[in-house]
Amino acid sequence: MAALPRLGRRGGLHRSREGGSSGVEVTDGGERGLTVDGDRLVADLERLAEFGVNEAGGIDRTSFSAADLAARQWLIARCEEAGLEVAVDGIGNIVVSSPDLEAGLADQAPVWTGSHIDAVPNGGRFDGPLGSLAAIECLRRLHEERVPLARPVRAVVYTDEEGNYAHLFGSSALTRGFSVAELSNLVGRDGDRFADTFAASGGDLDAAAEVRLAPGALHATVELHIEQGPLLERQGIQIGVVTGIVAIGGGAVRFTGQADHAGTTPMIGRRDSVVAAAEFITLLPALAPRVGPAAVVTTGIVRAEPGGSNVIAEAAEVVVDYRDPSTDNARELEALIAAVADEVASRHGSRVETHWEDIVPAAPLHSEVRDAIRASAEQLGYSSVDIASGAGHDSQNLATLAPTGMIFVPSTGGRSHSPAEHTPWPDVVRGADTLLGTVIRLAS
Ligand code: GLV
Ligand code: MN
Ligand code: MN
Repeated sequence: MAALPRLGRRGGLHRSREGGSSGVEVTDGGERGLTVDGDRLVADLERLAEFGVNEAGGIDRTSFSAADLAARQWLIARCEEAGLEVAVDGIGNIVVSSPDLEAGLADQAPVWTGSHIDAVPNGGRFDGPLGSLAAIECLRRLHEERVPLARPVRAVVYTDEEGNYAHLFGSSALTRGFSVAELSNLVGRDGDRFADTFAASGGDLDAAAEVRLAPGALHATVELHIEQGPLLERQGIQIGVVTGIVAIGGGAVRFTGQADHAGTTPMIGRRDSVVAAAEFITLLPALAPRVGPAAVVTTGIVRAEPGGSNVIAEAAEVVVDYRDPSTDNARELEALIAAVADEVASRHGSRVETHWEDIVPAAPLHSEVRDAIRASAEQLGYSSVDIASGAGHDSQNLATLAPTGMIFVPSTGGRSHSPAEHTPWPDVVRGADTLLGTVIRLAS
């Protein structure tokens, strides 16, 4: 990639006003450079948070659920209202562009910015929506001001980042591709078959299997996201410049024993799959520190079958998620987990099967994109610090194709993947302004 310019657009019209609900001043030029319309971004985030909201205030918006489909429709209409053009690829990734800004740039690889709008079960309002709607807001501002750029800027919303069907599903399709056979075999963490859900939402497996981006197709990518941890808030720093993203592995471990009567079968000699699974789970936390200080392992889904209170469970399935900043450590952790599963199963007279997904490798983020983020924050007068990501992001897939960077903003109390997820509006707008400055630098 050619060197990225260090300076953003300066000068031009200078309109400014005190922020409304966002609490941050909006400027259209001058020393701070072009900035977003914070009130409009806040309104968009509040509107998107209505799709799939539950009684606890959490968001239930798994990919291709009714809430996700309705949210997509709203988002597409919102882009079209702004005069932007929307394309949806075969797996549902949404790519938004400004035909006016792209005139004469057909030969230039674009800059992509975006995130996701699907949510974990009972998730929060910011994980994904922030980076998606901020990307659209950035493009809208560039389009409104007809900012002359050297290459196209596109806003992207990736499908199923939370990985109901596969880790970072939409961006994995773009970077590794899925065959029709692989897609046909995918079963969601919520138990439904991808092929059924996808067909019901109008998708076509052949088209999904064709989704793939060629190396060189993108000039650079950048994603804005909430930190999802406590570090920025604790340090009182406004912008995180992400240095790298962890490797993520995961899959299902299934213990099969023997179903029997809960009242008549003596305790000695039972082949209770739930007891085997429970013992397995309690052994996992001690495995993580054996591969590295930042390694983590989680079992967020446990299922017993057939699931009767008076039936000794024949099978128990545990879905495991493990991560480490080093891909090799993540592989080592997977091997340790598999060995413990075997050992526990043999002690309980159970059979064990493991189905691991491909590990999504750790991704160091690109120094020139990080420089552009830092310069953008500096121009806006925001404090910034380097920070590593323990959460997975589509950017780790995109980083295999193009120089990629990520911007973090603080998460109140470090809370995330919960209805408690919160980022104050001024931080939201600071992140979006930093994104806009970065995108301009990358596309200049
Ligand atoms: C996504 O949020 C992940 O880290 O799994
Ligand atoms: Mn996310
Ligand atoms: Mn998430």
